[in-house]
Amino acid sequence: MTIHIGAQKGDIAETVLMPGDPYRAKWAAENFLQDAQLVNEVRGMLGYTGSWNGHRVTIQGSGMGMPSLSIYANELIRDFGAKTLIRIGSCGGMQPQVKLRDVILAMTATTLGSPSQSIFKELNFAPSADWSLLQAAAQAAQSRDIGTHVGGIYSSDTFYDERADLSEQMVRHGILGVEMEGAELYTLAARYQCRALAVLTVSDHLGTGEALPSDQRERSFGDMVEIALEAAFA
Ligand code: HPA
Repeated sequence: MTIHIGAQKGDIAETVLMPGDPYRAKWAAENFLQDAQLVNEVRGMLGYTGSWNGHRVTIQGSGMGMPSLSIYANELIRDFGAKTLIRIGSCGGMQPQVKLRDVILAMTATTLGSPSQSIFKELNFAPSADWSLLQAAAQAAQSRDIGTHVGGIYSSDTFYDERADLSEQMVRHGILGVEMEGAELYTLAARYQCRALAVLTVSDHLGTGEALPSDQRERSFGDMVEIALEAAFA
């Protein structure tokens, strides 16, 4: 057991899918895993371990934002031996070719500063995805006939962002979408020699102001779970 994860050692698989929302962890475990067992409910941040096509998998909520994800990812890696961590979540589209429901596979994650920033001091580290996961996820997404984009994302600390100028620079530099967790996940994976990827559905669009209704989010979320699982065990 750790401070934030009530599981016993051995209850957590080496492969962990991390949705922001703990209820999404429950939904994904119930719909995609066999023999899913609840392994964590500390603070309501639900985690389940079960199997998919014979492979052991944990699905653990990360909460919203890099500080929250950082707590769970640190404990999963350092205390429970997680080796492959895939974020499954939503993002805001930033480019005209990125449409609602499309999937973004985050090759890099730009940020103003993650919880890891202080160790880098004046250095601007470039958080990036694991190539083997990225390649396998791109193949899995393309075989599903889903609009798929591979490129950079922006990991922001603010959902209700007052710095429109930063988003403008991100758009100008080809960043595909904005979310709130990826950069810290990629940085921790690099530090501890793990594999990480963020698979994101476009749930809203900063340029057009459109947003996906909640019933349609579930279908897109299911596609992401399948892409993440196929990539993890490719
Ligand atoms: N901003 C930040 N995070 C998000 C967004 C957004 O517009 N949409 C989904 N996650």
